[in-house]
Amino acid sequence: MKKIPILLMGIGGVGRQLLRHIVSCRIIHYNQRLRLSVVGVCDSKSMVVAPDVYRSELDDEFLLQICEVKSSGSSLETLSDGGQCQIYSSKEMASKAIDIAASYRRMATGLTFIDCSASCNTIPLLRKVVELECCVVLANKQPLSSSLEDYDKLISHPRLIRHESTVGAGLPVISSINRMLSSGDAIQRIIGSLSGTLGYVMSEVEVGKPFSDVVNVAKRLGYTEPDPRDDLSGLDVARKALILARLLGHRISLDNIKVESLYPIEMGPDLMTVEEFLAKGLPLIDREIRRRIEKASSNGNVLRYVCLIDKSRCEVGIQELPKDSPLGRLKGSDNVLEIYSRCYSEQPLVIQGAGAGNDTTAAGVLADIIDMQDMFI
Ligand SMILES: NC(=O)c1ccc[n+]([C@@H]2O[C@H](COP(=O)([O-])OP(=O)(O)OC[C@H]3O[C@@H](n4cnc5c(N)ncnc54)[C@H](OP(=O)(O)O)[C@@H]3O)[C@@H](O)[C@H]2O)c1
Ligand SMILES: *[C@@H]1O[C@H](CO)[C@@H](O)[C@H](O)[C@H]1NC(C)=O
Repeated sequence: MKKIPILLMGIGGVGRQLLRHIVSCRIIHYNQRLRLSVVGVCDSKSMVVAPDVYRSELDDEFLLQICEVKSSGSSLETLSDGGQCQIYSSKEMASKAIDIAASYRRMATGLTFIDCSASCNTIPLLRKVVELECCVVLANKQPLSSSLEDYDKLISHPRLIRHESTVGAGLPVISSINRMLSSGDAIQRIIGSLSGTLGYVMSEVEVGKPFSDVVNVAKRLGYTEPDPRDDLSGLDVARKALILARLLGHRISLDNIKVESLYPIEMGPDLMTVEEFLAKGLPLIDREIRRRIEKASSNGNVLRYVCLIDKSRCEVGIQELPKDSPLGRLKGSDNVLEIYSRCYSEQPLVIQGAGAGNDTTAAGVLADIIDMQDMFI
């Protein structure tokens, strides 16, 4: 039986779903002669670690208890441990995690760090564990979309890092691109709708509904962030575009990406409350969007909010696209990517499906962990 020791950072919607997947996949992994062994988990305030990180692990019952405690909004300190674990405060967390990584290195087995946080505070720790040749799996987009220096450091052992869930959640986007790149199938262009929210909004306004109504409905359905401007700014799409562009070899940062925001700066969060924006701000944008849709329609096209990456460009914003293309046919909140390469030059390789959700995102993380099994003895 091959043991894969894991330390999980972030126990929110995705991190908890990952722990539940690990527990419910025990038999599947057993049949593959694998055992995922969770030795520690942490949130923003504390870290819980197995009593002897090398010989023991947090058992399944305890992992599920962690999920319950976190779902109920309580802190990890309220866990009834019964001597089952050690708890460290946020101050001691990073140095303890590095100790654990170092001890695993001495034992010549791998340790996998999983980042399911939504924070950039994990970057310094990730940099150190990469140096210790630990495996790293990310759902968090921050580490690979911050400075180029961090990026280079984190991918300095390319075989030891996986980040499928940073773009398109569980969809096989990163793995497909990596397979193409490593087999010499040069990628000429990627164009993709990478926001479920903006995909939904753009396909709804196309059938004649006012932009402001569609955004309000999307918010009520829970499709948007609490402040929909976090979606409409395009920044989240830009982070994903940056990760893809860097994968294709672009030496750029977030500042180099042209990002079109769907609201004007006068309606920014510093100048308007969410309520004002929804009630008064949004309707002021309706006419301009309607005008652009009609113009596109007169050319037989539709509008989509996409990232566009080719040899020289990385842009994020509204593009006019043929109605009868994979992106043009998009309805609802799916993500869609068209990848053009030497092998896929006339007809693109198309990847489509749900690009968000705790379940698919956690499944993507779990598949990444299993994918690195050959790193373990
Ligand atoms: N949900 C999706 O559909 C989806 C899809 C693709 C990618 N992702 C990415 O997956 C990540 C997790 O998403 P989520 O929805 O689960 O987020 P979330 O519910 O906000 O959970 C974030 C977790 O990270 C913890 N955290 C914050 N700072 C930390 C630090 N410095 N060290 C360790 N843990 C820290 C938080 O701690 P507290 O509990 O103490 O606050 C919380 O447990 C995000 O980066 C997100 O962008 C999500
Ligand atoms: C993801 O998990 C969070 C926290 O449990 C929950 O609030 C949210 O509704 C979940 N999202 C989906 C799409 O299930």
